Amino acid sequence: MTEGDPGLAIATQGLVKRYGPRPAVDGLDLHVPRGMVYGFLGPNGSGKTTTLRLLVGMARPDAGSMELLGEPYTWRDRRRLFRVGSLIEQPSFYPYLSGRENLRVFGAAGPPTPRHRAEEVLGFVGLRDRAGDKVKTYSLGMKQRLGIATALLSDPELLLLDEPANGLDPGGIVAMRELLRFLTSQGKTVLVSSHILPEMEQMADVVGIIAAGRLVREGPLAGILDEGTRVRVGVPEEAVGRALEILAALSPTVESAPGGLGDQRWIAVRVANDQASEVNRALAQGGVFASGLESGSDLETAFLALTGPAGPDPQGHLGPPPGWGQPGSQAR
Ligand SMILES: Nc1ncnc2c1ncn2[C@@H]1O[C@H](COP(=O)(O)OP(=O)(O)O)[C@@H](O)[C@H]1O
Ligand SMILES: [Mg+2]
Repeated sequence: MTEGDPGLAIATQGLVKRYGPRPAVDGLDLHVPRGMVYGFLGPNGSGKTTTLRLLVGMARPDAGSMELLGEPYTWRDRRRLFRVGSLIEQPSFYPYLSGRENLRVFGAAGPPTPRHRAEEVLGFVGLRDRAGDKVKTYSLGMKQRLGIATALLSDPELLLLDEPANGLDPGGIVAMRELLRFLTSQGKTVLVSSHILPEMEQMADVVGIIAAGRLVREGPLAGILDEGTRVRVGVPEEAVGRALEILAALSPTVESAPGGLGDQRWIAVRVANDQASEVNRALAQGGVFASGLESGSDLETAFLALTGPAGPDPQGHLGPPPGWGQPGSQAR
């Protein structure tokens, strides 16, 4: 096996994990640069948790290879994990012990840490005032924060957080973002998974988007946001064919979407950010009169477009909306 890439905190090649006949992770090639917040985005069931479990040896891959912190890594390599902190799925704490006592219990399983470190990480997650209270009195968000504190206890170089914003209120999410910024300013790498896009938009430097166990897009967040604008227009049913033709000349990405008002049908098209107004103009010039023009360019649009079940559909079959679902409708 060759040396790993020292610029990457995580690299996977062709990673596969099957549960029964269907792969949960299906040939995944991740590239997580060091010193950044990497947003691992995907709808529920897309394979995020399974990937993280593979990375920390909680599950064995069926195929593929992994590098962790610049060196090849196998699931048996427990020592490497001393340099990795993780919070995967719901943390389960002892309800009748305090937050501080739980931290001690869980800390004992990892590498030795100095005593003051527990107080420090409790401070990082804003739990110092409540650290003496029994965990059974904690809200979901507080348990989540205690989970992050536990993951940070050994001062890991790489932090893996699976949906850490679950249960946090908006203030808690802002605080977590600041904590992650602080960690990356110290040269640490953070991989944070989520199925909620606005969170990632706020937090990540780089994103990897996973759908059905495969990476469909990976790169700097800013680049993905610059990719273009999606415009959706309503056109009369009898003009759908003509509208698809006109728009195909404008963009390689044209999709008919389901629904519409009365005899209107939706068509979605991706264009450059400064070209949104061209869509309506081109349709009008071609004798198609569109209504209900909407456009968006945020990560949500990009994410839903990439992961949506319906791609371009030459038959004009009206499948589920490619990228125009309700915000958050992919959740759960
Ligand atoms: N232990 C398991 N046994 C069987 N199927 C599993 C197991 N863990 C995950 N899966 C399946 O693998 C797929 C990916 O799940 P998961 O990694 O939890 O996705 P995500 O974290 O993105 O929601 C899902 O279809 C899920 O049902
Ligand atoms: Mg999950």
